Amino acid sequence: MIDQAVVKNETMNREVKILGIESSCDETAAAVVVNGRKVLSNVIFSQVPLHTLYGGVVPEIASRKHIEKINQVIRKAMSDAGCGWEDIDAIAVTYGPGLVGPLLVGVGAAKAIAYAKHIPLVGVHHIEGHISANFIEHPELVPPFMCLVASGGHSHIVLVEDYGKYRIIGQTHDDAAGEAFDKVARAIGLGYPGGPKVDKLAREGDPHAIEFPRAVIEGSPYDFSFSGLKSAVLNYLNGCEMKHISYNKADVAASFQQAVIDVLSERAVKAAKDHGVKTLALAGGVAANTGLREAMKERAAAEGITFVCPSFIFCTDNGAMIGAAGYIDYMRGIRDDLTLNAVPGLPIGAR
Ligand code: KG4
Ligand code: ZN
Repeated sequence: MIDQAVVKNETMNREVKILGIESSCDETAAAVVVNGRKVLSNVIFSQVPLHTLYGGVVPEIASRKHIEKINQVIRKAMSDAGCGWEDIDAIAVTYGPGLVGPLLVGVGAAKAIAYAKHIPLVGVHHIEGHISANFIEHPELVPPFMCLVASGGHSHIVLVEDYGKYRIIGQTHDDAAGEAFDKVARAIGLGYPGGPKVDKLAREGDPHAIEFPRAVIEGSPYDFSFSGLKSAVLNYLNGCEMKHISYNKADVAASFQQAVIDVLSERAVKAAKDHGVKTLALAGGVAANTGLREAMKERAAAEGITFVCPSFIFCTDNGAMIGAAGYIDYMRGIRDDLTLNAVPGLPIGAR
């Protein structure tokens, strides 16, 4: 729901402080953000060690942990920011996409505070949050810009046409990039979460040691497919085992990672160039990949395109990115009521 009268009033406001809450997967997080760019606090409780035991996120365990942690995390975000409830203009919360149980914990907490303290409530799209993380450390960043979003559940190339206005230019046809990282990591015995571990090991390997496929999708120059690459890695490992040949894990990690980097960076830069956009941003957990950041920067520079990406802490799930996106939605006049529900399959740019 968009209320234009509210938008007008709020634009004359001096400082808008948003409490951002995130619980869509395995991080319980909250942050206070001023005017969508200045982070006053950013508290993240990561459940990664808990899920490492099972080799991946167990939704029921994640939900229970979120319930245990959410109030502590919110309280700490408020005290770190030196804020009382009277200072908060709106509560922004991820309501999708993500795991339904974990999402419901954040949405429930946000609704309870909004109701009890009479504070406006704004439901935020998780991926729009990842994209908005770029605004935090880049005051010069303004739309339009192209953004490559690569996380555990998503791989998209999104044209940010204006604040809150998103157009999907390309996407994966099967696995998300982060999912491929996690599956390959498991296959070579690195455990969960795979991305950071592959990233680290890849630095010791030769990225050209093994020629893994780079899928091209006919008629969709900005789309991706990672399931063939994942199968190629698994086949390579099986082949080595059957022939009793030992393989070099670091070379497998480096060669796999290079294949992902080549495809993501090539298509993202092409999308920016073809659409006449002068700035390219990177977002999502995979944006923490050191090789991908380097490759994007180099390819973008070669085309005269400015490249920006968030610091590592704002790449993986956090509350500040939800506060940043929440500010944009809030300024557009978006307000939710207590019927706000978790939407696990929420599409980008739903409103
Ligand atoms: O955005 P995020 O924290 O959660 C989702 O919204 O999915 O992304 C998590 C994903 C995981 O698949 C993780 O393996 C990947 O991001 N990731 C990385 C790196 N750090 C996290 N992938 C590659 N290299 C990294 N350094
Ligand atoms: Zn995420």
